[in-house]
Amino acid sequence: MNDDPLLKYRSLFPILEKTTYLVSHSLGAMPRTVYDQMKAYADKWATRGVRAWSEGWWDAPLETGNLLAAIFDAPAGSVIMHQNVSVAESVIASALEFKAPRNKVVYTELNFPTVQYVWEAARRRGAETFSVKSRDGMTIELADMLAAIDERTLLVEISHVLYKSGFLMDAREIIKKARAVGAMVLLDCYQSTGTVPFSVRDLEVDIVVGGSVKWLCGGPGAGYLYVRPDLMQRFEPTVTGWAAHADPFAFETGAIRYAPDARRFLHGSPSVPALYAARAGYEIISEIGVRAIRARSEKLTEWFYDACIEAGFVPTSPRDVRRRGGTVTVSVDREGGPSSPLGLAVKTELERREIIVDFRPGAGIRVSPHFYNTQEELERFIRETQQILASGAWKQHAGKGVVH
Ligand SMILES: Cc1ncc(COP(=O)(O)O)c(C=O)c1O
Repeated sequence: MNDDPLLKYRSLFPILEKTTYLVSHSLGAMPRTVYDQMKAYADKWATRGVRAWSEGWWDAPLETGNLLAAIFDAPAGSVIMHQNVSVAESVIASALEFKAPRNKVVYTELNFPTVQYVWEAARRRGAETFSVKSRDGMTIELADMLAAIDERTLLVEISHVLYKSGFLMDAREIIKKARAVGAMVLLDCYQSTGTVPFSVRDLEVDIVVGGSVKWLCGGPGAGYLYVRPDLMQRFEPTVTGWAAHADPFAFETGAIRYAPDARRFLHGSPSVPALYAARAGYEIISEIGVRAIRARSEKLTEWFYDACIEAGFVPTSPRDVRRRGGTVTVSVDREGGPSSPLGLAVKTELERREIIVDFRPGAGIRVSPHFYNTQEELERFIRETQQILASGAWKQHAGKGVVH
């Protein structure tokens, strides 16, 4: 497994030279080519000045979106860049009318908190929210999800892969049920894009959001929004601005005339530097292909899952690889369980030893091998964790660990 052809990409990621980097569910490693992209951005500004807008900057949200569209099989012109998921979902929420009887928004309590805040805020505008509860704190039962979706449902908001546990939701079945009752589905693919292959066309999903910080290795400030082209015209966001106008440089006064394509979801001037940086990661992911990344991820995580059990740890992610994204969560405290603060102390000592993972109460330590990681690095995580537990080296960090 240490001679996998994908390992030739390791040299593109500077941090891997000295660090065992297993935290791509949080912040993917920076590709070396980000330096070139940032220089290209600065050179353009320095030499072209205001002409930069018409020479690529203004179109960057759509052009960058097209690179992502190719990754998840969306048609060109259907993906637009935003700063982050929270903004992208707020733009969608602003376009919805929450009129009874179809004013229900279904989400799950294991969604990333930021999106729960967005939809709870929509209650003030007439939305009735329904949060599907988890039975075990790590997964959502499909039956519970399907039962919550009914004729009163306007929108279903789900994470494709749950951030806390790595649980992979059955998006296809949920979309099928939503369609049958006339509801839309908004799929948050932040934890799947770049590690779990999917096609928006094949899934027939209505709306997709995500960001670039994690598996896409694209850095912060590059969130994305896909809306099914045949649905787009129905959305007239009230969170809007001149970049969403059909002809922004006509400087028309009064009410907006929305752009016919995904630009209609924009607001003001784009965050250009973030979009330059993000392209470096997208290019590498596209070149490798998410299918190949997933195949490697399955091999590494399957091996790791069993190796953790053998080492005396307790994996808390689903056992079945088909129900897991790229992350395996593991409790290193057999008695205390996955919420034990011992996990945070161990993670902190690992970090001091240049092994980067993170910790979430309820799940334990999150470990995420990406295409650039080796089995040897996972072995190192296990070996050092055992040593930290046996030697008591974690005690110096007890009650002091930093969550990020
Ligand atoms: C599934 C998921 N959605 C959303 C976010 C973050 O949202 P935002 O882009 O608004 O920071 C994260 C993690 O940071 C996440 O894991």
